[in-house]
Amino acid sequence: MIEFSLIIPTFNESKNIPILVPSIAEILEKAKITFEIIVVDDNSPDGTWKIAEELSEKDDRIRVIRRIGKRGLSSAVLDGMGVARGNAFGVIDADMQHDESILPKMINELADCDLVVGSRMAEEGGYGEFSFFRKLMSKTATLLAKIFLPIPVADPMSGFFVIKRSLFREVASEINPRGFKILLEFLGRKKGIRPKEVGYVFRNRVHGETKMSGSIIHNYILALYDIRFGKYVSLTFIKYGITGVIGIFVNLFGQYFANEILNFKNQGMAYREYFKPSLSVIFGFELSVFSNYILNNTWTFSEVKIQGFGKNVAGFIRFNVISILGLIIQLSVWRFSFEIFQVNFPDFYPDYATYLSNLMGILLATAGNYFLNRNFTWSKGD
Ligand code: GDD
Ligand code: MN
Repeated sequence: MIEFSLIIPTFNESKNIPILVPSIAEILEKAKITFEIIVVDDNSPDGTWKIAEELSEKDDRIRVIRRIGKRGLSSAVLDGMGVARGNAFGVIDADMQHDESILPKMINELADCDLVVGSRMAEEGGYGEFSFFRKLMSKTATLLAKIFLPIPVADPMSGFFVIKRSLFREVASEINPRGFKILLEFLGRKKGIRPKEVGYVFRNRVHGETKMSGSIIHNYILALYDIRFGKYVSLTFIKYGITGVIGIFVNLFGQYFANEILNFKNQGMAYREYFKPSLSVIFGFELSVFSNYILNNTWTFSEVKIQGFGKNVAGFIRFNVISILGLIIQLSVWRFSFEIFQVNFPDFYPDYATYLSNLMGILLATAGNYFLNRNFTWSKGD
């Protein structure tokens, strides 16, 4: 049995791989650890996979996974671990920012815990020449993690760690593969995890460039939520709710726009007729249905995003029908509940009764809409 499987996720690291891999091999050999190195490359345009394959032809301990049509750091790590044969698994960046010389120490420390973090915050650790901005981001993210998750780790942002194979097997299916912070997933998903830290000084990237981008901050906050509260209320529903709240403002803006700019004022207006809204109200409603559709498609349900013009038209029509259905549910519940209030609790303030009834209507309509949209508009495999 191999003792240790080291995963190296890569994207455009062709200049780093031929330096890093031999260095790791030498260190692990010296420490008498039997190992395999698994490079997981997402079909890098710079041909990292080709360079890695050349190394693997000369050395059986080096394996390569070349993924086509798939991108992402966490999912690359998961795919690597999925085929790993070692008793312990490790992850290290390809760009030599992580100090591979502490690997033997990390593996030793793993003997009496579940996970060992290569840490910039532990003794003998440091951020090196990390730019002020990146340091600030990293520390803010760490603080957020500490507030949300009760994790006894000083550097939960690290991308450098080793875990027991058993930990991977236990939590693998709960891990969100769409992220950058896979360590956080392991720490957050396993109850009562016993982590340790080994310090190292973060080095500067020599070749290639970072893949960090703005959307990573956004993904990070969503990942924190998902790890902490996802099992109570799904992240998708939260996003759907946020979209809905934004939609309320769009809706009001649409009404204002139609009234003041398009001069729809008083058109079709029938004050005394129940349920007959003015044109401006309809305009606001449709505008918000449109903006909600776009936001839901690109954000809430981005994993099953509808693509192509024709399919989007069909999707929008479906979403529209469901939204109108929601409105009917809302109005019916409001009306029905209001009547009940008036008949059974005639002393209850009618002002409160109407708001309370409408709130119930809104909540039921939201839940119903969500259910319908998830199953019909953005059903998987569509
Ligand atoms: N297969 C694959 N697919 N690998 C990827 C991808 C991807 O989509 N994106 C990045 N990588 C690889 C890079 O080639 C590199 O080996 C490693 O993942 C880290 O990517 P960097 O672009 O160097 O990230 P970073 O230096 O900004 O962030 C690192 O430091 C953070 C600590 O501040 C990472 O280790 C983070 O995980 C870590 O939190
Ligand atoms: Mn890096």
